[in-house]
Amino acid sequence: MQVKLTPRLEKIACLVKEGSRVADIGTDHGYIPLYLLENKISTFVIASDVNQKPLESAEGNIKDFGYENQVETRLGSGLETLKVGEVDTVIIAGMGGLLIADLLKASPDVVSNINTFILQPMQAQEELRRYLIENGYSIKEDLLVKEDHRIYEIIVVEKGKQLVDKEIFYMVGFHLKDNPLPLAEEFIERKIKAFSKIFEETRGLTAESTIEKNQMALSKLKELEEVLEWLKD
Ligand SMILES: C[S@@+](CC[C@H](N)C(=O)[O-])C[C@H]1O[C@@H](n2cnc3c(N)ncnc32)[C@H](O)[C@@H]1O
Repeated sequence: MQVKLTPRLEKIACLVKEGSRVADIGTDHGYIPLYLLENKISTFVIASDVNQKPLESAEGNIKDFGYENQVETRLGSGLETLKVGEVDTVIIAGMGGLLIADLLKASPDVVSNINTFILQPMQAQEELRRYLIENGYSIKEDLLVKEDHRIYEIIVVEKGKQLVDKEIFYMVGFHLKDNPLPLAEEFIERKIKAFSKIFEETRGLTAESTIEKNQMALSKLKELEEVLEWLKD
């Protein structure tokens, strides 16, 4: 049997450095741990989830693949299931950015002993980047991956200081140019479309909050157009 990952999960798994001890938080089906072991990227993985049902599904898959000796399953929230220094890499994928930030906040001792975090927020990516940078993390990679019609963001983080040249980088990432140009352009164009819609819907309305929303949309549109130009440079 071979574990076949979706493009999003494969990209995440391939970011793990060979020889790492990994915890997959919110593992659900346990596919990432299986892939890491099968491809000899890791020799020890903790598959953790706050819900019993997904953990049981992970346990079933781990048993089917015969990796019971190399994967430990743990039931509990976030990094609370980990002991200090047990792993060097943490993956948190498929959750909201605010929840990811809360999970990091909740376990400062464990967090301070992790070298690399591979984070894949489904929403609130901007808020997560802001939390990370304000709390002593440096963003090493901002990767985009397209699966079906959705573009997912993967953020690789280590401890350190992040220089912030422009406010817009919280939204689009600090390493956008490292992605293939057509994908990066599509990512920005989708944002331009979303803010254009807000701009059009609030144009000419007189409530103070709507005027503010209209101005915010206009200012984001200008910044995003600049990013698009910079990408093509
Ligand atoms: C949408 S699934 C994502 C599964 C997988 N990581 C992926 O990216 O495909 C979210 C998983 O996170 C788990 N989860 C939600 N809140 C959590 C928390 N506080 N701590 C650990 N796991 C959590 C859920 O039970 C669920 O299995």
